[in-house]
Amino acid sequence: MHADIDRILFSEAEIVSGIDRVAGEVTRAYSGRDFTVVSVLKGSCVFASDLIRRIPIPLELAFLAASSYGDGTESGALEINFFPTGNEIEGRNLLLVDDILDTGRTLHGLKAELARRGAAEVRSCVFLDKPSRRAVPLQADFRVFEVQNLFVVGYGLDYAGRYRNLPYVASLREEIYSSPPTARKA
Ligand code: XMP
Repeated sequence: MHADIDRILFSEAEIVSGIDRVAGEVTRAYSGRDFTVVSVLKGSCVFASDLIRRIPIPLELAFLAASSYGDGTESGALEINFFPTGNEIEGRNLLLVDDILDTGRTLHGLKAELARRGAAEVRSCVFLDKPSRRAVPLQADFRVFEVQNLFVVGYGLDYAGRYRNLPYVASLREEIYSSPPTARKA
């Protein structure tokens, strides 16, 4: 286990079986329908790449980049950095895939923007869901795990840009938050 980790919340084996379950739900929901998985960068890239390889029906893949957190753990304003092209959105059934649904502001803003740009339908699939933190009324159509009100890292999720490559989901030791990243060893 990485030295900065306090507790592992979801192991690699639990993640694999959780994603199998949700991939089955997505497959049943989109069987016989064209759809595009839209991965929200950077956090969902690990989840999206594991998820799509367990969905055995035709799909297309697109990316958008959005950020709502700086280097800390508190929510900030939603910043959209790039979007799929018009013909990847217009008239398409989109499945927005994100790492974590927290206050809901990110997915709420992205869904509205994709609808405004002409998507036929926008659904959402999240790896983690923190319902206790919701600030806007939004429920994911698909979710792998519910998580308590803890800042979590690993499996794509970062703190100050680090820990995305951990193969499990974990909480960090408290002293990691209280010392600036530059003061810590890699
Ligand atoms: P909102 O609040 O808009 O947030 O639903 C969604 C985005 O916030 C980030 N986020 C986290 N990132 N650990 C992280 O590494 C967390 O516990 C956490 N909670 C929210 C994440 O980028 C997500 O897409």
